[in-house]
Amino acid sequence: MSTFQGVVAVDGPSGSGKSTVSRRLAEALDAAYLDTGAMYRAATWAVLQAGVDPHDADGVLKVVEAAQIEIGTDPAAPHVTVDGIGVDAPIRGPQVTAAVSAVAAVPGVRAMLVGAQRAIIAAAGAIVVEGRDIGTAVAPDATLKVYLTADVTERARRRSQETEADQHATAADLLRRDAHDSGRKADPLRQADDAVELDTTALSIDEVVAALLKLLAGENL
Ligand code: DC
Repeated sequence: MSTFQGVVAVDGPSGSGKSTVSRRLAEALDAAYLDTGAMYRAATWAVLQAGVDPHDADGVLKVVEAAQIEIGTDPAAPHVTVDGIGVDAPIRGPQVTAAVSAVAAVPGVRAMLVGAQRAIIAAAGAIVVEGRDIGTAVAPDATLKVYLTADVTERARRRSQETEADQHATAADLLRRDAHDSGRKADPLRQADDAVELDTTALSIDEVVAALLKLLAGENL
């Protein structure tokens, strides 16, 4: 069992390093790991699969209400299913990435997924949770809240390495999604007042994880 007990909330824009850092931190703490973005992506996959327009809020909500989204919390083997179908690969594809901000902006979808996320968090003794609204809405009482940022050029470089997409197109896509995620009415991407902001532009993954472990140990950066 983990000696750490509690919740670490990791928020920030796309490509800020949240996923890799959160998984590595969870492993270091022997804690569970929850990728809330994967849940919004799985919901979006279900919407596209049903042939529903991602901008049709009522249609989107109907699909998501009917879909059984299950997510694993092992940081060594993240896994998400929709109605029993493994969707780990397709949820990272361009169609889902292009549509996910619209689906994530539907208040009823957020209410459902936030409820599921809170249940997972409550059942885990120790967990690292990454997303956009973890410190502000999902887990406002988290033990530690961090807000990761990075220059858009660096964020696009990291994302295009993962997806082998063109870096300029990736930068434009990141900015579009950030604007959509920050501008929506329901739980927008926002730094919590009590979150520690960490600019990861010039830092390695190891350095970011070490910084977070220091913060958890009560030390200043
Ligand atoms: O972290 P990611 O790129 O996999 O997230 C996919 C989308 O889901 C992102 O554009 C914003 C949305 N999202 C959200 O609205 N709230 C969260 N807690 C996590 C992700």
